[in-house]
Amino acid sequence: MLLHVDGVHKRYGRRVALAGVSLTVAPGETVALMGPSGCGKSTLLRCINRLTRWDAGEIYFDSAPVGAMGPDEVRRLRRQIGFVFQHFHLIERLTVLDNVLLGLVLGGVPKEEALERARAALARVHLAGEERLYPAQLSGGQRQRVAIARALALEPRLMLLDEPTAALDPILVGEVLDVMEELARTRSTGMLVVTHEVRFAMRVADRVVLMDAGTVVDEGPPEEVFRRCRSRIAQSYARLLVS
Ligand SMILES: Nc1ncnc2c1ncn2[C@@H]1O[C@H](COP(=O)(O)OP(=O)(O)O)[C@@H](O)[C@H]1O
Ligand SMILES: [Mg+2]
Repeated sequence: MLLHVDGVHKRYGRRVALAGVSLTVAPGETVALMGPSGCGKSTLLRCINRLTRWDAGEIYFDSAPVGAMGPDEVRRLRRQIGFVFQHFHLIERLTVLDNVLLGLVLGGVPKEEALERARAALARVHLAGEERLYPAQLSGGQRQRVAIARALALEPRLMLLDEPTAALDPILVGEVLDVMEELARTRSTGMLVVTHEVRFAMRVADRVVLMDAGTVVDEGPPEEVFRRCRSRIAQSYARLLVS
């Protein structure tokens, strides 16, 4: 298993954010993580690459316990996990190409190879022609695709995407979903995508994991989860499918 989250608990003061969450992602698998706002999705993603510590349970990446990792191991872990946020965090004074190059160069990849990998990543998100532009010259959809390319260029084994289309104009959502769908089809990286795009989840995810109030309430192949509607959350998403 590429990722195995095993009974993770996390509280902020008296507020319980995660109440024993377990899930897995296999190599190349795409899992859609869904659930109402505040149910703990972002907290879980932040635990997976050790941006946040948790209180009990364990997270295994490639069978290695993430909680026990020292600083060097955490750096190595983060090189294998691409993170894409709702807000793109591009560097405004750098071109599109340099935004993608930066992580590679900082990671010690030789210049020639870095250029090749950055250009290949930009091509995968259909931005090959825009590499000399600055973020301010791009649409929101293009900016998010640059952020995806930046993560991809590092050739991660797992991509964590936290509501990557939530901050976009509705007309720009499609181009980002299309890029994620193409990525998922190649199976070159495992993907754990937090999203409310239920049609996208139906079409692209190998599995959906539904969370509510800090726990996993349902999981399985999307068509099964949204058909049997075992949980309140599945019911609300299934209603979106017929509307
Ligand atoms: N840094 C924090 N400090 C205190 N409470 C937090 C913090 N981050 C998240 N929470 C709380 O933890 C719960 C889960 O939040 P979050 O993981 O952001 O949910 P989601 O991403 O599903 O909307 C919420 O009740 C939220 O208010
Ligand atoms: Mg969130």
